[in-house]
Amino acid sequence: MTEQGEEIIRLDEVYKIFGPQPRGRALTLAKSGVHKNEVQRQSGHVVGLTDVSFSIKKGEIFVVMGLSGSGKSTAIRTVNKLHDVTHGQVIVDGTDVQKLDGTALQAFRREKMGMVFQHFALFPHRNVIDNVGYGLKVQKVDKEQRDEAALRALSLVGLQAYAHNATSELSGGMQQRVGLARALATDPDILLMDEAFSALDPLIRRQMQDEMMEIQGELHKTILFITHDLNEALRIGDRVCIMKDGAVVQIGTPEEILTKPATGYVAEFVQDVDQGRVIQVHEIMVEPRPISSGTSLGDAISGLGDRAGAFVVDSEGRPTDILTAPDGIRAAGMGSSDLAAGLRQDFEKTSRNATLNDVYAAAGRGLPIAVVDDAGALIGNLDPRHIMEEMGRVESLIDDFERETFM
Ligand SMILES: Nc1ncnc2c1ncn2[C@@H]1O[C@H](COP(=O)(O)OP(=O)(O)OP(=O)(O)O)[C@@H](O)[C@H]1O
Ligand SMILES: [Mg+2]
Repeated sequence: MTEQGEEIIRLDEVYKIFGPQPRGRALTLAKSGVHKNEVQRQSGHVVGLTDVSFSIKKGEIFVVMGLSGSGKSTAIRTVNKLHDVTHGQVIVDGTDVQKLDGTALQAFRREKMGMVFQHFALFPHRNVIDNVGYGLKVQKVDKEQRDEAALRALSLVGLQAYAHNATSELSGGMQQRVGLARALATDPDILLMDEAFSALDPLIRRQMQDEMMEIQGELHKTILFITHDLNEALRIGDRVCIMKDGAVVQIGTPEEILTKPATGYVAEFVQDVDQGRVIQVHEIMVEPRPISSGTSLGDAISGLGDRAGAFVVDSEGRPTDILTAPDGIRAAGMGSSDLAAGLRQDFEKTSRNATLNDVYAAAGRGLPIAVVDDAGALIGNLDPRHIMEEMGRVESLIDDFERETFM
């Protein structure tokens, strides 16, 4: 994060106007600083981007964040010339993208960048390895080399075992991983990711973010990542660019965005990042995996793995008891092999949509919390360590930032 690579992507005073006469009055108005809504009212043209400039360095994860319609997709599409710009310049690795056409443009897209989108279209009739190797096939790489590269990419996303499965056999999260592997298979310098994780459920989404950062730690790509979720932006971005109504509002490190919001608009966003208020229980709970009846104390203890505890449920699936590692070990130490000797009943329950603030006090007891549905059945296991970690994450970001800045 601290090392400053050389610039690889630059947008320079980019305007994108949609409509029949993009370079007419709408552009003049936008250039004189007239707001998008007013430009639309006066000219009937839609402002996609207005005076957008940013510079992305090699090896950086640069996140563009903004609400729906703020211009994020329009911005990323100027980088591979899926959109022409109305005014301004887009430079990628020294090349003026607007000047590319035909085969040169195709080669540029193919060799320089990989793309991952929200609903990544995989070929349903091809298996995983052929999907991943597709970009190389287009480049006329022979099958053996193609498969080798595809397997390497699949192992990066942990899916090498599924190489020969049909893509339709994979879950949404796994399909999105295949999408990422496909983008990585050609070993491009740049990854363009537009809401790549937005359709995934929160648990899988976090896993994907973690995995992507792990992969990035190894491969050092340049990643332009689009999201409408500030939490995601702050979590993965080396720098974050906040957009509103087609314009850039602020560009900074997550620390700067959090501690020095440039405008009231950003400040309002940042307020919402109060982890306890925003994050709901279902986002961090883990699979309940209750202890099955008849399990011995010893087996139940080793079955805990790295979980803080596990529940016992009744015939309706409702949690009745909990086994924690310390309780279990204590009971076993006293010579018992009976599961009941290690159980306790004084655990807390919550619902999937409760916020972390709601369960914060209960987490202080250090016992896992049972997440139950309306009928009282166990649907998740909430580890107090995960609650504290999640709530502490932004706080520690701010602490570190202040320490570095003021000491
Ligand atoms: N092809 C197009 N024709 C006309 N207007 C467009 C076109 N593409 C985008 N726009 C407009 O440009 C603006 C920015 O759209 P864009 O798709 O970039 O937003 P976004 O930030 O990606 O939003 P979302 O989060 O919904 O994907 C919007 O006002 C949109 O209506
Ligand atoms: Mg979009």
